[in-house]
Amino acid sequence: MTNTNQIKIFDTTLRDGEQSPGASMNIEEKLKIATALEALGVDIIEAGFPAASKGDLEAVTEISKVIKNSKICGLSRASKFDIDAANSALKYAAQPRIHTFISTSELHMTHKLELTSEQVYEKVIDSVTYARNLCDDIEWSCEDGTRTDRDFMCRTVEAAIKSGASTINIPDTVGYSVPEEFSEIITHLMNTVPNIDKATISTHCHNDLGVAVANSLAGVAAGARQIECTINGLGERAGNAALEEVVMAIRTRNDLMPYTTNIKTELLNKTSKLVSAVTGFPVQYNKAIVGKNAFAHEAGIHQDGMLKNSKTYEIMTPESVGVSESNLVMGKHSGRHAFKQKLIELGYDIGDNAIEESFNNFKSLADKKKNVYDEDIIAIVDDQVIRVNDFISLKDLSVVAGTKGPQTAEVTLIIDENEHHAKSTGDGPVDAIFNALMSLVPHKGKLQLYQVHAVTEGTDAQAEVSVRLAENGKTVVGQGADTDTLVASAKAYINALNKLIVKREKTTPSKMSNIS
Ligand code: KIV
Ligand code: ZN
Repeated sequence: MTNTNQIKIFDTTLRDGEQSPGASMNIEEKLKIATALEALGVDIIEAGFPAASKGDLEAVTEISKVIKNSKICGLSRASKFDIDAANSALKYAAQPRIHTFISTSELHMTHKLELTSEQVYEKVIDSVTYARNLCDDIEWSCEDGTRTDRDFMCRTVEAAIKSGASTINIPDTVGYSVPEEFSEIITHLMNTVPNIDKATISTHCHNDLGVAVANSLAGVAAGARQIECTINGLGERAGNAALEEVVMAIRTRNDLMPYTTNIKTELLNKTSKLVSAVTGFPVQYNKAIVGKNAFAHEAGIHQDGMLKNSKTYEIMTPESVGVSESNLVMGKHSGRHAFKQKLIELGYDIGDNAIEESFNNFKSLADKKKNVYDEDIIAIVDDQVIRVNDFISLKDLSVVAGTKGPQTAEVTLIIDENEHHAKSTGDGPVDAIFNALMSLVPHKGKLQLYQVHAVTEGTDAQAEVSVRLAENGKTVVGQGADTDTLVASAKAYINALNKLIVKREKTTPSKMSNIS
């Protein structure tokens, strides 16, 4: 273990986070998130599990090509096949890391692996040695670590370090541990494993009992210097330790936890929103740090205190996590130059054609909406960017809604440059729209999620809609934004259909041939 108080932040949103049912992302989305994680200052990005699927291998390869400031890590089981896949996916990485793991608890060894502890011990040595011959930076994990016999854990950790692992990760795979116990495990390793000073100890805590963040911090207090976590706490079942929470706990209670991280906390809110939009997993309103209400003060007594001195009820400032007062941007008379400046300020680097299109969209929004805020501009540009390669697009939509049913939708789509028209009824206007779209683009995808969120306050706010479709075990999330919620709904559904087609495309040559 190094002697510093610097904590490495290892983000596994793209690997463990993606394992949440329904959170699968395509390559473009993963690249977008990886780029945001690099900007956030994440030390190590676990980009995927290359042996698990062709898509994962491709994603880790592409991420490795573009990310230079964060290490890129690929996960592998304790097999040559997995390690070779991870190594090959990492070949373009400026700073590659192979993360190999095997279960060490009696329960997992007997019932999952059907191996004796001696066989597992041999596999630890073989896999780490093999990986170390391919890559300089090896992390080893004892899966189900917190339910592993302590003596056996110490033996395997010692062997992994001797074989070349420089990071030892202790997963609480099933989220079973509590802070006192987790701290005791790390302390035991620190005091017992003779070569422990040659490795960084890492925490990897799941949140089944709601204590993943507390366990991670207890691990750090006991000597761990890497925390594995995800944005918004995304992950299998109840998720992983939330990155924004561990980082802000360390920053806010630095008196008790005198550690530092490389995280630019002002980007936390933006990154959280991106992950939520891409996965379609909403952030609960009262979620610590990034929830909509995390800095809202409703009670009169609190508001009064806040006005006198914000420290009365605020332990960290909203600005420190990137939450600012909604910024009034511009009106309909604002020019191109001011708009371009605003895009730069908001962190967008899009080409001239895209700027022109965004500017036109901004102008028509300013015609409809009294006040245009930063959030509106972000929604406009994001909405445009996600549609760039769309094969199907919306030309027209008209809807009859209200108490006198049946609700009816008439849709005109451009599919492969040809116009297609359909009219359908439904159980409500959204159902009517989706039925019309379904009749033009038949598919077997099941609607798993339909979610609307208002970009800003007010009844003229833009609606951002997410739609999740699942077909043959694959899920896609589509997004759409518009001041008209029904148009946003149609756009989101169409965006999901485009993604579904891209997924099918990987197995069939013609885009339309498989729409049935
Ligand atoms: O939870 C877990 O045990 C894991 C390992 C693969 C590190 O995700
Ligand atoms: Zn995990």
